[in-house]
Amino acid sequence: MKTAKLDCQVYTLDHRLLLPAGKELTSEALDELIAANKDTSYQALYFLEYGTVYQDILPLIQKPPYHVIFDELKRTLALNLMKKISFIPPILESLDYFKENDFYTYRHSLVVFAMSTIMARDLLEKSEDWIMEIMAGTIHDLGKTCVPLQILKKSDPLTRTDRSILEHHALAGFVLLSYFLQDPRSFAAQVAKEHHERRDGSGYPLGISLRDSMVEIIAVCDVYDALLSPRPYRPTPYDNRTALEEIIEMAQGGKLSLEVVQTLVSHNRKDRPHFRECKVSTEKRGTPPADSLYGVIVKRDMEKEITCPNCHGSWIKRKTYKKEDVECISYECRSCGKEFDEDYLLYKKMDEY
Ligand SMILES: [Fe+2]
Ligand SMILES: [Fe+2]
Repeated sequence: MKTAKLDCQVYTLDHRLLLPAGKELTSEALDELIAANKDTSYQALYFLEYGTVYQDILPLIQKPPYHVIFDELKRTLALNLMKKISFIPPILESLDYFKENDFYTYRHSLVVFAMSTIMARDLLEKSEDWIMEIMAGTIHDLGKTCVPLQILKKSDPLTRTDRSILEHHALAGFVLLSYFLQDPRSFAAQVAKEHHERRDGSGYPLGISLRDSMVEIIAVCDVYDALLSPRPYRPTPYDNRTALEEIIEMAQGGKLSLEVVQTLVSHNRKDRPHFRECKVSTEKRGTPPADSLYGVIVKRDMEKEITCPNCHGSWIKRKTYKKEDVECISYECRSCGKEFDEDYLLYKKMDEY
């Protein structure tokens, strides 16, 4: 079993450091973390009754693109299930934080919750087994409270440093939920950690093979909503058809569960076929948004062509250093000796393209 290691520190919204960067998440480290919070007791509150959650969630599932999936019957079913879910105050405060500072993550959390609820209803047999698990859809991205807002809202391509800080949200969410729920084995903590893993082991943070049915449902809903939403790096979202085509391709490439994707497609069909009889087409007719910078990282091979912005000399020395506990790269000019941050240089180079 691989042991995860933190790339960045994990802290609470009130700036308490829970674990430093570089910490290995061994069972001893997690036990110690939870022991520090074992005497705290929390009073859970019903989520749909909290603040404006109900008023916020309703229009999201009544309007395009989700109105096709959530017809009146599905809406009622989903809301009835969601009514049973409650969260403890630190989790609700994190959702308040997103609502105020990163509305996309707040909206995304609500939609993934609603979507995963109706998909779980189709795919998982005994509702008592998963009724508490659907809560995890809402808080899968909780660890984004540990990602600086300038990275969450960045509209330019990400540098590799940005990417590793962003990907930190999976383990940060795992640590935060283990701490607040006082159990690293809680399902919500597991979902936070694994929702970016893929069936074929190509995901992160550990590159393990995704297998749990409910985590797979949340992973599919997560990708689906991410494609359908306007993002800073992609002002125009995918249309529904193209988003489904992308997800079908991911399932056929072995990354996502084909059964879950089949269920998603069946919810999108007007004739509502049973998900087990729903055929998914491999034909691609949609066009992804032209201005999407999703997944674009400033390119490594630009490195070879970099010249010093100060004296136009060429680079020989590549150095690594720590900035806010993240491993970063800088370059030193052989000619004038000046040092420049990798992100600055690569962006400068990119502007020339
Ligand atoms: Fe995520
Ligand atoms: Fe997400």
